[in-house]
Amino acid sequence: MKIVVGSILSSISLLVLLLGGYGRVWGSRRGVGGEETRVVSDGVIRLPWPSFDGSVSVEKALSTRRSIRDYVSEPLSLGEVSQILWSAYGITETRYGFKTTPSAGATYPLELYLVVNPRSVSYSEGFLEAGSYRYDPYSHSLFLVKRGNFREELYRAALEQEWVRDAAVNIVFTAVFERTTGRYGQRGIRYVWIEVGHAGQNVYLQATAMGLATVAIGAFHDSWVKEIIGAREDEEPLYIMPVARPLYRYEFTLDEYREYIMRQRGQ
Ligand SMILES: Cc1cc2nc3c(=O)[nH]c(=O)nc-3n(C[C@H](O)[C@H](O)[C@H](O)COP(=O)(O)O)c2cc1C
Repeated sequence: MKIVVGSILSSISLLVLLLGGYGRVWGSRRGVGGEETRVVSDGVIRLPWPSFDGSVSVEKALSTRRSIRDYVSEPLSLGEVSQILWSAYGITETRYGFKTTPSAGATYPLELYLVVNPRSVSYSEGFLEAGSYRYDPYSHSLFLVKRGNFREELYRAALEQEWVRDAAVNIVFTAVFERTTGRYGQRGIRYVWIEVGHAGQNVYLQATAMGLATVAIGAFHDSWVKEIIGAREDEEPLYIMPVARPLYRYEFTLDEYREYIMRQRGQ
């Protein structure tokens, strides 16, 4: 197994993504380093269009997907955030609003929150204001739920897992179980758990294809996380996925695979 050091952002499609459109902004505040922090006018960020066509094959993304917990402290662009959120739970069909993730009976129990750290998402000439945002897949927009720097608190609520603190952003998946159990009864509970796994894998593969890092986190204090993100009473948090630029890239070759399999076969 080879680990290649350095953050690699080479694909042309990613460049196109970085040059995507911008949401609505109003006003500004001076950040710590003098750069402006954009303040959301009506609490709505219209996200840039996602790309439907990347240069990394699904096989490449599958073979190089890894849980990565070591990050470079650099902001993400709003275009990158847009792409990751779309991959997780974005619209792929307009008649019924079907999504990137399969869902039992298309009941779509999941809600996504984006916890943005200060100066961690570049937005026009400044940065997105720190806080918790809810992702609305139907308008591909972020809605500000709570302003503030929740970096330390989320880290502590996630049992002090450092990658939660070090990431540029954290996606928190919650579920309204009733949407699915209302149709399928008790069996709906397992359907919700299965669905969050699908959405999480989408994030893993999209992040890998974009040269970004993530890890699925299931260990945290539910009620604390719920309070931090400003979730509604009927939602339960299921996953946290930090997203950031990786300190290293994971590589896995067909030769390594062949060698391993031959060894297992005793050949
Ligand atoms: C349901 C679930 C919960 C997990 N919880 C955590 C967690 O709390 N913290 C963490 O660092 N990794 C967590 N992981 C990631 C696993 O540790 C990781 O997938 C495993 O070590 C295999 O490594 P890989 O993802 O690179 O293949 C979780 C994975 C799953 C599927």
